[in-house]
Amino acid sequence: MKIIRHPTDMQRWALEQRRAGASVGFVPTMGYLHEGHLSLVRLARARAEQLVVSVFVNPTQFAPNEDFTKYPRDWRRDERLCREAGADVLFAPRAEEMYAHDASVSVLEARLSAGLCGVSRPGHFAGVCTVVAKLFNLVLPTVAVFGEKDAQQLRIIQRMVRDLNFPVELVACPIVREADGLAMSSRNARLTPEERAQATCLRRALDAVEHAFARGERDADALRKIARGAIERAPLARIDYIELVDDESLDPVVLIEQPTLCALAVNFPSARLIDNTVLRP
Ligand code: PAF
Repeated sequence: MKIIRHPTDMQRWALEQRRAGASVGFVPTMGYLHEGHLSLVRLARARAEQLVVSVFVNPTQFAPNEDFTKYPRDWRRDERLCREAGADVLFAPRAEEMYAHDASVSVLEARLSAGLCGVSRPGHFAGVCTVVAKLFNLVLPTVAVFGEKDAQQLRIIQRMVRDLNFPVELVACPIVREADGLAMSSRNARLTPEERAQATCLRRALDAVEHAFARGERDADALRKIARGAIERAPLARIDYIELVDDESLDPVVLIEQPTLCALAVNFPSARLIDNTVLRP
């Protein structure tokens, strides 16, 4: 496995692959890899001749009050896991080389970013779109894999690829969960044992919503109340949002008559967690 640090070297390698006619699979990450990331890596590995994994904790998607400095990092372990998973290239640029000191161009998605996480994290999705666009231009992937846990991010990137004509196929990978149902996330490592025990309230809330939906409940407010009840039983959990939105447009839904994303964000003292499920009538 080759480790590439500089964006120019990454692009040179990618252009060589393109000239040789090789397909390139790509998994962008912020590191601190877990089984969820590895499932993305396995999907990408199976779909392309060359596989690039990036590890870059992107400063521009964190607000000043967020956890950029506290975001968990473990370079040696990430390197080992990428090697074992069969990556051909591990791209790990430095922020100073990714962003010119006077960088003044960014990618703004104006519609799907407005709600859900966009409310409490203004500027977050501009940071995500900009870094993903830059990574696509450096890695030149044929296929890129993103996780369904970040449902809003996935839909925004799908929209960016469509609207800006990036020549890349996007593949969505299902959420990978711990045995007790907690969706895998690098941020789980920051939870205290007490918070970790209570963090299962997100999955419990989604289970309760799915059961009510299966019994015929179609009213979004009623489903939201059911989810709220399940989360409020965890004393350390503070609800950021519980939303039911159209699975494509992310517009709020009143009655569930089309595929609907039920998305949650919950703050614990040490980490903010998200999870979701899609309800299909
Ligand atoms: O989902 C993530 O880990 C990040 O938002 C991404 C896509 C790697 C961009 O920094």
